[in-house]
Amino acid sequence: MIHVRQVRPADVEAAHAVEVASYPPEERDTIEMFRRRVDLFSEGFLVAEEGRRLVGVLNSARTDDARPGDPGLRDGSRHVVAGRNVIILTVATIPSHRGRGVATSLLREIAARARLGHIESLLLYCHGDLVPFYRRHDFALVGPSRVAFGRETWFDMERRLSTGDDAR
Ligand SMILES: CC(C)(COP(=O)(O)OP(=O)(O)OC[C@H]1O[C@@H](n2cnc3c(N)ncnc32)[C@H](O)[C@@H]1OP(=O)(O)O)[C@@H](O)C(=O)NCCC(=O)NCCS
Repeated sequence: MIHVRQVRPADVEAAHAVEVASYPPEERDTIEMFRRRVDLFSEGFLVAEEGRRLVGVLNSARTDDARPGDPGLRDGSRHVVAGRNVIILTVATIPSHRGRGVATSLLREIAARARLGHIESLLLYCHGDLVPFYRRHDFALVGPSRVAFGRETWFDMERRLSTGDDAR
């Protein structure tokens, strides 16, 4: 059974191993970025466990920007403590556990937490192949992103929370 909970500092290495297993080197966040996200916004850093094994990760930052693209969000330098939006930076499941709803559980939990925290929107950027997946999670396609690292084009997506959409 998959259990989603907030990260603890002791999880950072295992959480980063999920990142390494999931992204090509040019798109990977560093373990220092992960440590900083735990320090700055652990409420927005979730892990999924099966038994004692960490199998999925979602982390994020807060911002007042309406569109992703600021590199300072990835390294934490532009995290805004009371920012009105949450930008999801990593969503990853280890390959052996994909297709079993791990990312879905992580996305549901961050949406529930963000709603409780009166966050206006959840933002993220993804490659085109994942646009349909996030659409199924109530994100709308905003358009090509200003985000510029790694391979291919990124697309911005937004899920507004302040409009009273129901909990999922
Ligand atoms: C994308 C990812 C997080 C999904 O995790 P997951 O735990 O398998 O997700 P769920 O089980 O909740 O949902 C699975 C669905 O995701 C979609 N999906 C996953 N990868 C996909 C891809 N490369 N292209 C298109 N759809 C994809 C499919 O709709 C899939 O449904 P299916 O199993 O019926 O085919 C996982 O594949 C992963 O870690 N990928 C590498 C890292 C990455 O690209 N993260 C997203 C960054 S924006």
